[in-house]
Amino acid sequence: MKKQLRINKMKIPSEKFLPHESAELHVTGKAVYVNDMEPCGQTLFGKVVSSPYAHANIIKCDVSKAKLLHGVPAVLTYKDIPGENQMGPVFHDEPCLAEKEVTAIGQAVVLIAAENEEIALEAEKLIEITYQQLNPILDIKSAIKADNKIAPTRKIELGDTKKAFLKSEHIITGELETGAQEHWYLETQSALCVPGEGSEMTVYASSQNPAETQAIVAEVLGVSNKEVVCEVKRMGGGFGGKETQGNHVAAWAALMANVTRKPVLIHLFRDDDQKNTGKRHPFHSTYKIGFDNDGKILAYQVDLNADAGHTADLSMAILERAMLHAENSYFIPNVLITATAWRTNHFSNTAFRGFGGPQGIAVIEHAIDRIARFLKKDATEIRLKNFYTEKKNNITPYHQKVDNVRNQVIYDKLVKSSDYFRRKKEIDAFNQKHEFVKKGISLTPIKFGISFTTAFLNQAGALVNIYRDGSVLVNHGGTEMGQGLNTKMLQVAASELGIPAEQIKVNATNTSKVPNTSATAASSGSDLNGAAVKNAIDKLKSRLSEVACGLLTEKFSGGKFSKTRIEFSDNHVFDKNFEALKLPFTELIDKAYYKQVSLSATGFYKTPDIFFDREKGTGKPFHYFAYGMAVSEVEVDVLTGSHKLSRVDILHDVGDSLNKPIDMGQVCGAFIQGVGWVTTEEIKWDESGRLLTASPDTYKIPTVQDIPEIFNVQLLENAANYNTIRKSKAVGEPPFMLAFSVWMALRYAVSAVGGHTKDPDLAIPATNEKIMLAVEKIKK
Ligand code: MTE
Ligand code: HPA
Ligand code: MOS
Repeated sequence: MKKQLRINKMKIPSEKFLPHESAELHVTGKAVYVNDMEPCGQTLFGKVVSSPYAHANIIKCDVSKAKLLHGVPAVLTYKDIPGENQMGPVFHDEPCLAEKEVTAIGQAVVLIAAENEEIALEAEKLIEITYQQLNPILDIKSAIKADNKIAPTRKIELGDTKKAFLKSEHIITGELETGAQEHWYLETQSALCVPGEGSEMTVYASSQNPAETQAIVAEVLGVSNKEVVCEVKRMGGGFGGKETQGNHVAAWAALMANVTRKPVLIHLFRDDDQKNTGKRHPFHSTYKIGFDNDGKILAYQVDLNADAGHTADLSMAILERAMLHAENSYFIPNVLITATAWRTNHFSNTAFRGFGGPQGIAVIEHAIDRIARFLKKDATEIRLKNFYTEKKNNITPYHQKVDNVRNQVIYDKLVKSSDYFRRKKEIDAFNQKHEFVKKGISLTPIKFGISFTTAFLNQAGALVNIYRDGSVLVNHGGTEMGQGLNTKMLQVAASELGIPAEQIKVNATNTSKVPNTSATAASSGSDLNGAAVKNAIDKLKSRLSEVACGLLTEKFSGGKFSKTRIEFSDNHVFDKNFEALKLPFTELIDKAYYKQVSLSATGFYKTPDIFFDREKGTGKPFHYFAYGMAVSEVEVDVLTGSHKLSRVDILHDVGDSLNKPIDMGQVCGAFIQGVGWVTTEEIKWDESGRLLTASPDTYKIPTVQDIPEIFNVQLLENAANYNTIRKSKAVGEPPFMLAFSVWMALRYAVSAVGGHTKDPDLAIPATNEKIMLAVEKIKK
């Protein structure tokens, strides 16, 4: 068994099938997460005391009694923060510990460092905080009424919508709400901070953004970044939830470790994690869409409104990505997109797979579904008619030209492999005959822009060390959260150096090895870090080629070797004109050391030619686009609103896959996570803002039983990308949005109840309850 999992038996060409480098550790429980680390047996338990109110003034905060409790080395309030009381990642609008006011339930007020959990809970009872409750704003509509904007409304425009609406044969207006989503990473927010000599602090974090965690810890401690090292071995899932909010626990643990001079661990309980961390932004959007008799869209006007929560966090970037995905895969000649992030008294909402993309795309898909019903046409036909194409109809609302468009090729293949049109006919016939069970089927496309829309973030670094025994340690700026980034980096290094994967190790991400990195986000981890690793290896190879040329000449006198022709392959180096005359890689390294050649190199990469002018709403924000389509079929019990996912066919474009099993895992995982968002995952708060769905018994994420009965997933073949690491494409987020096919199939099934004459009132999430209500509404 063990042997099969071993990666060293893999030959380089089959590297596309390298198992996840931690697969064995994951399944045997040996993988180390923050909560498994125990530096010296003296680690203190860190407890966060947080606000029970969505909005209140703090009248009194007395921690004196708690401080006297035995086994409680520290109880801290904002007054004890030596540096700046801030942890806002983009705007400085988020205090690390509340001062005079709390603006969300879950906002941290007091920190307790205790010898164990029991003592910490005892200490918590002794803390006296008096609040004066204020009126909270708990939904987008109230925030709009109060004009509570995070930042001014943004706009993106193409053509002239006013004129185009006048020319449109038909106009539909509508609105759509899409719900929040809980990340439900298996490892809750965690950080272990270990104080060192003087001001030194080592932070073992579960963070997608170690450089930012380092900077925020330094800021609250009032020291410079050089004193703080942040290390991330791996996360038990992040999904965007640890792009900024992994910083919070790290800052709190660091404050306590700094005062007590002992290691402090914070590992949130599941319910605290659900209550006191941000979610996917709920959106409320309104739209107007103009089209002709054939279903060709002429004009689209959409106003996107996001519930940011109580601080900005990443809301403006998320809103921007929602705007940049408002038209999805469709060319629309006249578009006006406006968008606002609204401040409410919920915990700050944050990044979540798709990063606003899903919220923007949902609206246009909703509109298209309604156009089809209005024109009594198949929605697939409307979609096809409006796709971006290669030679014309290829300008986005933000004026970037779309190239290498893969809509048509994916559409042709998927319609065929899923047998869409025949099944649709069968489903219509079935629905005619059955009153209490209705089926639905839908094909939906996605086009997802790859790059951070904040252009400067598109950079990455690496540090590659070759040791004297020929083994290689790769450091890069990305973080591993289960998505397989480290495996892919291992493969890049193995194929660039031409040595077996077992000779290479990818190190824990560490800010002292690779500084100033961006978050591992925007699905760009392997694009950016892969290129940086390659850059470091290119430098090493250039130095080593010179050594190799000399050694080959010494060893095989007679050959005219050239350092420009040296190849690294099959664990050897050779001049490609004299392939038979080889040197083992390890021998080359050993000799290079004695020749005093540096065997360590840094690498760097920045994505070329991308820019975006926020004022004008134009530019080239994306290096390229990822494409995919899905056909989903559902069966709805119209009496209970329950449904099953009978069949799903996916064809997704990952360029030349770096690792097929990992990419398949990403496609399947993202899709199912999307299915959760559009169906069962409903977040509810009571009227005071308290989360009612704070555990898995009230919040239902998909399980193995929710996997479609028939699940055909394929990666697009012969789909090499241009100008990316090994011609691959990013894969992490795009397939999430393929789940719209399930939402649309459900809408089709519900609409069948009324013979497709009325639009179903079915937004996101389409829970059983909502499906039943929609059915009842159609029957009226
Ligand atoms: N896959 C797993 N298993 N766990 C995760 O937390 N996060 C997703 C995606 N896939 C995630 C995942 C998100 S939100 C992003 S942005 C990408 O992975 C980040 O990694 P990448 O850039 O290396 O693809
Ligand atoms: N995606 C994810 N994270 C980000 C982005 C993005 O586009 N921009 C800034 N942070
Ligand atoms: Mo992913 S939402 O960009 O971390």
